[in-house]
Amino acid sequence: MFKYTEADLEAGRQALGGGGVGNPIHMVIDHGEGAVLYDKNQKAYIDCTSQAWSLNIGHSHPKVVANVSEFIKNYSHIRTSFETVPKLLLSKKLAELAPGNLKKVAYALSGSDANEGSVKLAMRNNPSSNTLAVMMDGYHGRSLAMINASWPHPNNRFTAWSAPIQRIPQGYCYRCPYRLSYPGCKLACVDYAKELIVRGASERPYALMMEPMQGNGGMVEYPEGYLPAIRKMCDELGMLLIFDEIQTGFGRMGEWFAADLYKTTPDIMTIGKALGGGFPLFGNLWRSDLNTFSPGDHSYTFAHFPVSMVAALTFIEVMEEENLLENCRKMGGFFTRELKKLQDQYDFIGDVRGPGLMIAIEMVKDKVSKEPDTDIPDVFIKEGLDRGVIFGESKYLHLGNVVKIKPPLVITEQQATQVIEVFKDICDLVKESRK
Ligand SMILES: Cc1ncc(COP(=O)(O)O)c(C=O)c1O
Repeated sequence: MFKYTEADLEAGRQALGGGGVGNPIHMVIDHGEGAVLYDKNQKAYIDCTSQAWSLNIGHSHPKVVANVSEFIKNYSHIRTSFETVPKLLLSKKLAELAPGNLKKVAYALSGSDANEGSVKLAMRNNPSSNTLAVMMDGYHGRSLAMINASWPHPNNRFTAWSAPIQRIPQGYCYRCPYRLSYPGCKLACVDYAKELIVRGASERPYALMMEPMQGNGGMVEYPEGYLPAIRKMCDELGMLLIFDEIQTGFGRMGEWFAADLYKTTPDIMTIGKALGGGFPLFGNLWRSDLNTFSPGDHSYTFAHFPVSMVAALTFIEVMEEENLLENCRKMGGFFTRELKKLQDQYDFIGDVRGPGLMIAIEMVKDKVSKEPDTDIPDVFIKEGLDRGVIFGESKYLHLGNVVKIKPPLVITEQQATQVIEVFKDICDLVKESRK
């Protein structure tokens, strides 16, 4: 499509002024197909990152490519004030898929913007205070408003621009801050969170915003009963509950939403990533009895981008036609079983978490001290690339000792077996290096 030389690519590399997460990977992508990415030398990689956990139906799904190519002959960008058929059909479909009474829909083009939309809705509906509660190690984006809801790091220059935030400890069973164990603890962490909010905040927060399973903060899966208990706490304290389902939604955990899986409906939900079928699309779902946005509250130039909406409608069709929730549960079960077997063999695999294809392996120096090993995830990234598997890692929040396996939900058993073989191979390498 474009003519270029290696020197052109190198000049571009030099011109790029950052804007990535972590260290750049100098791998020029040629094309993708299902769960596999190919570099320009046609080397294949099983993509266990789904490109920031976004491609649940895989790379360049043929049906998305066909529908988008056909549609774009009509028009591409249409301003938010106008109606388009994709927008109306997608809004209807999302209201049908949404849990409980979350029947209202709005759109944005990034997760940070969409989370700001959820927060704006909560502020409109609960004007009692200006404090937002969030979970420790939660991640909600990098806009100026969201960065402090996510990154309390003392050296973070950008947190200077922030509304009041109250952080509460999350239910992180593997490293319970109260040294208790589930279920004997009877979810003491929720009781303590409530006490912190009642007695430790200068004003009652208008809402609690949280991921139903923490993604970037170390892939923290909550125990059974935790989310219903959090829901009850919010009701008792007169706070709205916002679920950031940007990662957990649209099948990643084996149900359409984590809210379905954990039988807990928030008042407001942020959605995105996989929804766009490979195109940018994020948004909000909220209780139809809540006050909605007023004109101008929440609108971005490209927010109703029809091409993304065509891809999103196609994404939902593909999820249903290819029975991908079922495949996610099946492959997720396979991975978790195999990884737990490896956990018994290697002293540095501290914890294996799921469910579905939201899989994390927490690496430790040893299982007794549980001291985080932050070097191991880098070994998996590097050695995985050599062996044709792209692993994910959780490096920049909390402990930074987690390897992630979150492939597209279309992954086959053969590909999953190959990932496990590579994973084991790298475990042997790590074990050898520790002798
Ligand atoms: C749970 C969650 N919330 C918010 C975001 C921010 O989304 P974006 O990078 O599109 O602003 C992310 C992105 O990784 C996320 O995982």
